Amino acid sequence: MTQHITDATTDAITDRDAGRGWWHDAVIYQVYPRSFADADGDGMGDLPGVTARLPHLRDLGVDAVWLSPFYASPQADAGYDVADYRVVDPVFGTLADADALVRRAHELGLRVIVDIVPNHCSDQHEWFRAALADGPASPLRERFHFRPGRGPGGELPPNDWESVFGGPAWTRTTDPDGTPGDWYLHLFAPEQPDFDWEHPAVREEFRSVLRFWLDLGVDGFRVDVAHGLIKAPGLPDVGHGEQVKLLGAAPVPYFDQDGVHEIYRDWRALLDGYDGERIAVAEAWTPTVERSALYLRPDELHQAFNFTYLTTGWDAAALRAVIDRSLAAMNSVAAPATWVLSNHDVVRHTTRFADGDPARGLRRARAATLLMLALPGSAYLYQGEELGLPEVTDLPDEVRQDPAFFRGAGQGSGQPSGQEGTRDGCRVPLPWSGVRPPFGFGPVAGGPSWLPQPAGWADLTVAAQQGDPASTLELYRTALALRRAHPALGAGRDVAWEEAPAGVLAFRRTAAGRTLVVTTNLTGRPVTLPAPGTPLLCSLNSRAPGADLGGPGTDAVLPPDATVWWER
Ligand code: GLC
Repeated sequence: MTQHITDATTDAITDRDAGRGWWHDAVIYQVYPRSFADADGDGMGDLPGVTARLPHLRDLGVDAVWLSPFYASPQADAGYDVADYRVVDPVFGTLADADALVRRAHELGLRVIVDIVPNHCSDQHEWFRAALADGPASPLRERFHFRPGRGPGGELPPNDWESVFGGPAWTRTTDPDGTPGDWYLHLFAPEQPDFDWEHPAVREEFRSVLRFWLDLGVDGFRVDVAHGLIKAPGLPDVGHGEQVKLLGAAPVPYFDQDGVHEIYRDWRALLDGYDGERIAVAEAWTPTVERSALYLRPDELHQAFNFTYLTTGWDAAALRAVIDRSLAAMNSVAAPATWVLSNHDVVRHTTRFADGDPARGLRRARAATLLMLALPGSAYLYQGEELGLPEVTDLPDEVRQDPAFFRGAGQGSGQPSGQEGTRDGCRVPLPWSGVRPPFGFGPVAGGPSWLPQPAGWADLTVAAQQGDPASTLELYRTALALRRAHPALGAGRDVAWEEAPAGVLAFRRTAAGRTLVVTTNLTGRPVTLPAPGTPLLCSLNSRAPGADLGGPGTDAVLPPDATVWWER
């Protein structure tokens, strides 16, 4: 990454100047392997498909790739139900394919982060199968949470916990002799039994799994359900009405327990034992950004997803508040802030921001992206957002695979906090080229894709957008290239807010003697103000910042639902 000279008179010290690790301002792109690129034509994306398309990510200008799980799995939760943590599922390829992917990424200057799923495994994992087979009193059951049921015949679940996917978080087992037996805990689907992290064998096993992938050369881990590993002693009832799913203000006895931190201190020591700045990022849906910061104390993990930011609507005051609060919380532990708008669990931001008007949704999504990419810290992109893909909202029920859909998790909540049962809509395979499905996702025109793609995606393929200055793809490329080149983008720890009319966000960032001003107009109408500088990039069009933006000493008309980067 480029080195910049520190200017002590500026209000931002860049991370790059201070020699902090690569992740402090990295842009990390999430690949959802089953939906990225399908090399063998079976309709399901795979690792050779990812490897073949890595040049797209290099050209896009990201720093790293995070791959969702590709391990051996019955796919009850799209691979987040892992049956063997050291084996690549045949649907995705082989271990040799994973190795080739990592090596090719490194050749292209991209780092690779893989998913680790420590809260639960698959019910087909050999430990769980052995625990079931060995019967009620078996010590093999101590690696999971088995409990007798309540009620006279044990026919009621051991406590009142609900699965994130809907229904009770407990499933009753049948003993080897055929009689109804104990219950086991699964915070997610019944096919995903929770490990008991109080058991030393669980801790040792995951140290070994981390080492396995680190030895293969990965640059880090995305820690699935990082807030869930430790449950409150005695597994007490929640006791109050509606339970939080993933993001909620009320503490619950199964999430964000203080005992998780000891595990991450252990993992950090393990990661630090490797060369090459290996990192871990927590998927921790905590009640506040301050609680998330606890995972990022200097001897714990490196980053945590900022779900508070992701769930903030298109509202200037709310965005300013979450930006300030996130930066303050992360600065308190000297960790980089992170920013994210979309992932494989939430409605794509193009659709979230649309309020029923897809064109408005796309404008706002592009504006939100330029706002995010100008903030200090690290940003996460989800595959397809660089194409402006909308959520697919009309998938027929018979093609859906999200277990939350079938278990009715929080349906109708309307909150983009993940796991509502609508997650297939953001997982539709990417359109790369051509005029009919699968749009280059697979090798054969007219071939299969595990979810159907809308016919209208012909206009959204990588090939169709390439070279078109009005396209979302070119906006992302231009923005990411500028972010690499401009010292005030991404680096640093703070923003300096400028005076602006209500509904307009305006902040300044200075580094290495250069000042960048960012304006986002959320008022819904044009706003005239003195031009804050010379326009560099406008979210409406990557090549033509716009005639009405003026320049130093003149007035600028900020278009609605647009972000502008200005050089002062
Ligand atoms: C995380 C994943 C989600 C998965 C769940 C259970 O939230 O992002 O896709 O369903 O964990 O593993």
